[in-house]
Order: sequence, then C-alpha cells, then structure tokens
Amino acid sequence: MQTTTNTTRPGTRLRVALSGATGRVGRRVAALLRDDPELVLAAALASPERPDLGADLGAVLGTAPFGVPLESSTERAFDVLIDLSVPSASAEQALRCAELGRPIVIGTTGQSREELESIEEAARTIAVVLAPNLSPGVAVLRELAAIARRRLGADFDVEILEYHRRGKRDAPSGTALALARALEADPPGDQPPSIPIHSVRAGDIAGEHALLFAGPGETLLLRHRALDRDLFARGARRAARWLIGRAPGLYTMSDVLASPDAR
Ligand SMILES: NC(=O)c1ccc[n+]([C@@H]2O[C@H](COP(=O)([O-])OP(=O)(O)OC[C@H]3O[C@@H](n4cnc5c(N)ncnc54)[C@H](OP(=O)(O)O)[C@@H]3O)[C@@H](O)[C@H]2O)c1
Repeated sequence: MQTTTNTTRPGTRLRVALSGATGRVGRRVAALLRDDPELVLAAALASPERPDLGADLGAVLGTAPFGVPLESSTERAFDVLIDLSVPSASAEQALRCAELGRPIVIGTTGQSREELESIEEAARTIAVVLAPNLSPGVAVLRELAAIARRRLGADFDVEILEYHRRGKRDAPSGTALALARALEADPPGDQPPSIPIHSVRAGDIAGEHALLFAGPGETLLLRHRALDRDLFARGARRAARWLIGRAPGLYTMSDVLASPDAR
C-alpha cells in the first residue's frame, strides 16, 4: 500500500475535527480525545439548527470545558476529520476535506447512492476510511462469515439479524448491508444471492449483528454485540491515527486493522 509523508511536526498532537460532536457516539469520541497523547480535539461540529452554537462543547455536553466552540461549519485548522453525524453531512464533509486536502474517517451510515458517489469522488483526492462499523470484532465477524459460507455451501440458508436502538435512522444497518453484500458477492453454487436481513429497533441497544447459517440437521450462529459506544469511539480514534499520511483512496476498517501500528 502506498503512503505519503506525514507532515505533522514531531511532538505535536494531531488536530481532530469532529462532526456530530453532540451525538451519542461523537460525544464519546470527544471524551476519549481529552486525554489522548497523540490527538487533540480542534473543532466540534453539529447541525446548524442548534441554539447553543458558539458555546464551548463542554458546556453543551455538561462536562468540563474542551476549549473548542460548537460550530455548524469551521474555519479552524485540523489534520483529520471524524464524522459521526447524518448521511448528508458526511458527504458534505468528505467534499470539504477534499478541498482542504485533509483525510476523513466516516462512521456515519445510511448514505444514498449520490452521497456515496460524493464520498468516492473525495477519495480520489484524499484518504477516506468509510466504516459502517468501527469495531474490530465486526471486521473479524465478516471474515468468519465468509469462511462459513464457503465451507457450508449451498445447503445452508443464510440470514442476518441486526438489533439497534429505538430511533436509529437507517434500517437495515450499514453493517448488515455490508455483511450481506460481501457474502452475496461470493455465492456458493447456484444459490440465489439475496440474503435476507431482519432489523429490530428497540431500547438503547448499541448494536448487535448475527449471521444464522441453517442447514440439514444443524444451525450455526455467528454473533457480535457492541457492549457500549466507547467501542466505536476507540475505532474512530484508531482509524484517524492510521489515516494520517495515507495516500488518497477509499479504505475500510479491515485496512486499518491490518496495520498493527495504531490501537
Ligand atoms: N460506524 C460505526 O461503528 C457506528 C456506530 C454507531 C453509530 N454509527 C452511525 O453514526 C451516526 C451517528 O450516530 P449517533 O447514534 O451518534 O447519532 P445521534 O446521537 O443522532 O447524533 C447525530 C449527530 O449528528 C449531528 N447532526 C445532525 N444533523 C447534522 C447536520 N446537518 N450537519 C452536521 N451535523 C449534524 C447531530 O447534531 P445535533 O445535536 O445538532 O442534532 C449529532 O451530533 C449514525 O449514522 C449511526 O448509524 C456508526
């Protein structure tokens, strides 16, 4: 994999702009960056509708000050952007980062075809991690599912079950769609490639994905559960560190995890 030179001066922390800083996951990223030795929060973004724009992010979240105001767009300097917002904003941020020549981690899910095209366009100029799931465990689940599908073959039906909090905007989840597409791209025998996805929206479930393989006389269930949202925040931080100095292109969380350097 080609890399470019990291232009950040040694001893300085990399400046992170955070889009979706008031959200469930975004606020966990902000909390994680507070004591990070390598990264520092440099800009915090939310929707233009918020009445508290201009206030310190800490005041907005009810925590100690961050020294960073909440904004709907920013002129503040940053080295990498982490986006955990809404699909339209993720596409806009990708194009803005391309203009500025800064890499972006996109954890936001549910983009339309057009929004994904904008992200792909940005990835021709800058490095982009597009990660519908930022957890290491889900990346491994995907690999295990491919092995199961190949070994069990066309005698086994495959169905995906996914559970998320009440009110999650997109269904099926971006992770479930990515899992289904990966398996559909490599069908065993002449089995019809479409894999059913069952979505449950209830309570405050951070995220659960399961793949059911059901064949003659046996079932196999591969299941991943996110126990809290810090998991995603850690994944976003890891991807942001990994992106610095990367060549332009569209990367996945598997690319990030393949490098042992960033935790
Ligand atoms: N990749 C992963 O592993 C992973 C894990 C969990 C969630 N997600 C995805 O991450 C996204 C955020 O999830 P969440 O649960 O944190 O959602 P959330 O609690 O609803 O937070 C959404 C955030 O986006 C901001 N926002 C809304 N409209 C905006 C706009 N037009 N411009 C800029 N910011 C805007 C919100 O700001 P306001 O306060 O102004 O509304 C808020 O900060 C979703 O797409 C979700 O599916 C991904």
